[in-house]
Amino acid sequence: MERETWGSKMGFWLAAAGSAIGLGNIWRFPYLTGANGGAAFVFIYLLIVFTIGISVMIAEFTIGRNTNLNAVGAFQKLKAGPWQIAGWMGVVAGFVILSYYSVVGGWTIKYILSSFTDMISTSTDTTSYFLSFIANGPQTVLFHAIFMAIVIFIVYRGVGKGIEDTCKILMPALFLLLVILIIRAVTLPGALAGIDFYLNPDFSKVTGKTILAALGQAFFSLSLGMGCMITYGSYIKSKKESLPRSAATITLLDTGAAFLAGFVIFPTVFAFGAEPSAGAGLTFITLPKVFAMMPGGQIWSALFFLLLCVAAITSAISLLEVVVAYVIDNLKWPRHKAALIIGGTIFLLGIPSALSQGAVSINVLGMSFLDFLDFVANNILLTVGGLLISLFVGWVIPEIAKKETTAHGAFPFQPIWIWICRIVAPVAIFIIILGGFGLF
Ligand code: TRP
Repeated sequence: MERETWGSKMGFWLAAAGSAIGLGNIWRFPYLTGANGGAAFVFIYLLIVFTIGISVMIAEFTIGRNTNLNAVGAFQKLKAGPWQIAGWMGVVAGFVILSYYSVVGGWTIKYILSSFTDMISTSTDTTSYFLSFIANGPQTVLFHAIFMAIVIFIVYRGVGKGIEDTCKILMPALFLLLVILIIRAVTLPGALAGIDFYLNPDFSKVTGKTILAALGQAFFSLSLGMGCMITYGSYIKSKKESLPRSAATITLLDTGAAFLAGFVIFPTVFAFGAEPSAGAGLTFITLPKVFAMMPGGQIWSALFFLLLCVAAITSAISLLEVVVAYVIDNLKWPRHKAALIIGGTIFLLGIPSALSQGAVSINVLGMSFLDFLDFVANNILLTVGGLLISLFVGWVIPEIAKKETTAHGAFPFQPIWIWICRIVAPVAIFIIILGGFGLF
């Protein structure tokens, strides 16, 4: 059977942007910025994204389009031997990340619905509201199931009719929601203090930890290090399409979305005197409290969590597609069977994460099961994966890489790009790994 491809360049860009723009942009980026001192973190993040991040994305597209295969198959085809471990880790990461990502995706669905209840009321203690919801096992598993069912349905329909068509509708919708929410946020009385915190850097707050947080966030946000962009790159039809230009477009869209999400969160948080450094609870605990103080707060809350949910869905499908593409290409399963069985397995794997937030005590190394998987994925699977991918492109297939990135015409940054893949990115990633384990 012929392998599927994207219907158009725009379709590919929107699907890849859909993968990149997710909970990482709208939930994680603002709270990391808040917890790391604001604008100085943003500055460092941007620097990393436009040097290392974009380079690794070009590397992934190169591997994908050259082979037209999934993450594992691509490495196997290019070079026999241990390099395929990078692909295997990607498939494992797909399982692991999606299992808990879907749990948080489920929370967003719950919060859309609950926006119309007394969750959005000035007399509600939103901290205990959140904690008692995530400790409610049947509910978190139910919403995890609903979220996974949506994701499976889209991937089941295929690359063009499922992923691409969904992203063509949801990505413009997401942008529109973001614009509406920004207009509301920046016109609140007192919004200026939030914008000041967000845009006025205080470099005295920058430490080694800030840089590590920015590096890790760059990989997670751009969907790098696990073969997601290899898989999406493998569906590019035209050998003449510019990979550097595609990577630049997607990086800009992803960074733009994260940056804009900050313009929703910080003005809103400051306008109502909430704490920007609240950490992971910023979205689920602080914002409902803030919405309750706004006129029409229920609607704004529902719109915001809808935005979060849409972003999460278009990312989750890319995680499932990494694994599904592998079993389709290598094990020759039909797509329908692959989507249902793999998706179903990931749903089951997510149950312990769903329950680990208070329903049942499931702790590993002192972390809840969900946090443990997040830790393993971000600190080991994605980072080691990204390290191997850049070394592979820089040292093992440099000739193919040069050809793929100039198939459309000149790529003036090519020498810089190759050296980022060879040296800069691997060294930087190696440092993140050490830092992630608290080794310095
Ligand atoms: N980038 C997505 C986000 O920001 C999450 C994601 C999707 C991802 N696919 C990925 C992260 C692959 C790492 C690797 O929410």
